[in-house]
Amino acid sequence: MHILHVVGARPNFMKVSPVMAALSRRRGVAQTLVHTGQHYDADMSDIFFRQLQMPVPDVNLEVGSGTHAVQTGSIMARLEPVITERKPDLVLVYGDVNSTVAAALVCSKLLVPIGHVEAGLRSFDRTMPEEINRKLTDQVCDFLFTPSADGDENLLREGIPTERIHRVGNVMIDTLVRLLPTASAAAIRQKLGLATDGGSRQGSDAQGEGESSESESARGFGLVTLHRPSNVDDPAMLPEIMRALEDIAEGIPLLFPVHPRTQGSIQAMGLQGPGSGLRLLEPLGYVEFLSLERSARLVITDSGGIQEESTYLGVPCLTVRENTERPVTVTVGTNTLVGRDMDKLRREARAILEGHPKRGQLPPLWDGKAAERTADVIAEKLAGN
Ligand code: UD1
Ligand code: UDP
Repeated sequence: MHILHVVGARPNFMKVSPVMAALSRRRGVAQTLVHTGQHYDADMSDIFFRQLQMPVPDVNLEVGSGTHAVQTGSIMARLEPVITERKPDLVLVYGDVNSTVAAALVCSKLLVPIGHVEAGLRSFDRTMPEEINRKLTDQVCDFLFTPSADGDENLLREGIPTERIHRVGNVMIDTLVRLLPTASAAAIRQKLGLATDGGSRQGSDAQGEGESSESESARGFGLVTLHRPSNVDDPAMLPEIMRALEDIAEGIPLLFPVHPRTQGSIQAMGLQGPGSGLRLLEPLGYVEFLSLERSARLVITDSGGIQEESTYLGVPCLTVRENTERPVTVTVGTNTLVGRDMDKLRREARAILEGHPKRGQLPPLWDGKAAERTADVIAEKLAGN
């Protein structure tokens, strides 16, 4: 059985890694890894292959950046001959980025079976490019691997036959579970001059790293990431967000590893002011980022994956979005949507720092075994064909 994986952007790498590992433990499975090149900077791509111990991609389509149509079209044109030549029995696509939908469209026209890992998520906001990618991908896939019950419900509502839907859990959490022990030892906190460990549920407490003193915990730091075009490309929004972050940083230092899209906007809008409690950093490796995330007193983000990771880690998360395709992080986890209301962001951050963080629980099937369940389904279904 030959399985070909298509990935391209940072959050894809954390998802493909456990699935490839689980499949490599099955007999008679050959695997090919295709990187579209959607993300290409060393700190947006190579570092994850090293830290997650993944094979070097067999093929890199080197599409780079572009408008949606240019990027999606280039991936399609360059992937088609690879699929025709390599003739996989199944192609797996991940998440909701342009590489995901491009690969799904190519393979559906070539009549190659496709599986979508992280299927069924919906923000119900069609101004988000990812929502279009999710809906189109799910319509053409043969195997829909969902992380949570809301995913199944969304797919059924869209007319997807129930036999295509397989609730396996959250593969991104598999990677987190595997690398959390490594993250606790990472040198990043020392490198950044952070001696403290803030103490989250699954973080320092659960892993028995020892108790932080009260004064150290009280100091702590917050972690920020932002890259949604609706936040960072909008000249009416990004300056407002940065002002709110600077205000919050008067109460707690904020570490902000900056996504390249956001870096471009910060420069274009002239927002890179003199140093304050808000510290802008280059994008971080997975282990370094996780090390900070588990120790942070709060996370402020618009990332999909980070809403999930913070819920797993028991760290309060303030999401700068009106909606989320990951509602379980709000209903069960530690996530709060603050929308575009920067005063709400300030208020919610203050409440956390004054000792009233949102407590959460682990959603079902966030147990580090989602990729094994995915591999089980694939082995059973493909063996039956
Ligand atoms: C993409 C995904 C988004 C995902 C995010 C994860 C789509 C439509 N968007 O957004 O869903 O949450 O990745 O990080 O697929 N750039 C670099 N170096 C890189 C990559 C990008 O400088 O290695 C810069 C370029 O200026 C580029 C911009 O970032 O134009 C945006 O990159 P792109 O891949 O188009 O979208 P992201 O914002 O990264
Ligand atoms: N991440 C990272 N370094 C960073 C920022 C994020 O390793 O500097 C990781 C984060 O831990 C999570 C993933 O990147 O595993 C989320 O990706 P991103 O926010 O780029 O995309 P999204 O999930 O929003 O699609």
